[in-house]
Amino acid sequence: MKQKLVVLTGAGISAESGLQTFRDTDGLWEGYDVNEVATPQAWSKNPLLVQHFYNLRRKACLEAQPNAAHKALVELEARYDVVIITQNIDNLHERAGSSRVVHLHGIITKAQSSADPYLIYDIEGWELKMGAKCEKGSQLRPHIVWFGEPVPMIETAADLASRAHIFMVIGTSLAVYPAASLIHYVSHTSEKIIIDPKIPPVQGLTNLEVVAEKAGTGVPKVVKQLLSR
Ligand code: APR
Repeated sequence: MKQKLVVLTGAGISAESGLQTFRDTDGLWEGYDVNEVATPQAWSKNPLLVQHFYNLRRKACLEAQPNAAHKALVELEARYDVVIITQNIDNLHERAGSSRVVHLHGIITKAQSSADPYLIYDIEGWELKMGAKCEKGSQLRPHIVWFGEPVPMIETAADLASRAHIFMVIGTSLAVYPAASLIHYVSHTSEKIIIDPKIPPVQGLTNLEVVAEKAGTGVPKVVKQLLSR
């Protein structure tokens, strides 16, 4: 039986594809106030601004290409039972070819009804317009988990983390909960590997290896090593 390898990714894995991270010096949250664009309150107050913000994100995601890190993770599937848990709203893991991807914070290529979050639709192209409605007649909003909203996939993710033999963390500051707590669901006997040029502060973890490198070089290196075992 293949070993279970679970990967938690954040904005850093897509940085070398040209997508901005959130909390680095040139990060998105330097240019935008989170409360004005990524909360249910923002949507009530200024839906046009929120749509515009996510339309720009969608355009950038569609133009971006998977990089060496996304691609290397696909190779792991030959040898391991791999699941990727991503905080990213881009679809670069899927486009690289990864077969099991759990999106904790939603995905930019889909819309959801503002009245019923279970009514989800694909978006054609980069623009979601005001006036686009769900089948019940409510305005469509981006299928994104905003600050202050529940994270529906967190239980699935925690269960996956608790059963992982190997848990990799790539390109996340681990500043946002509940995603940041996932590493603490991993068994103390399981191997943990963090790849990030700026290793996030984690305490009390056993069996931890840190690779202080960019994803584009660090991930292929770690993958090669995991495949040669
Ligand atoms: N390779 C790997 N890691 C990188 C690279 C790179 N080339 N460039 C930057 N990083 C790392 C940074 O060192 C940092 O640890 O990526 C991380 C980015 O952190 P954040 O900007 O906080 O992004 P993330 O952790 O994904 O944010 C979590 O916050 O705003 C919300 O919902 C949003 O999903 C997002 C969540």
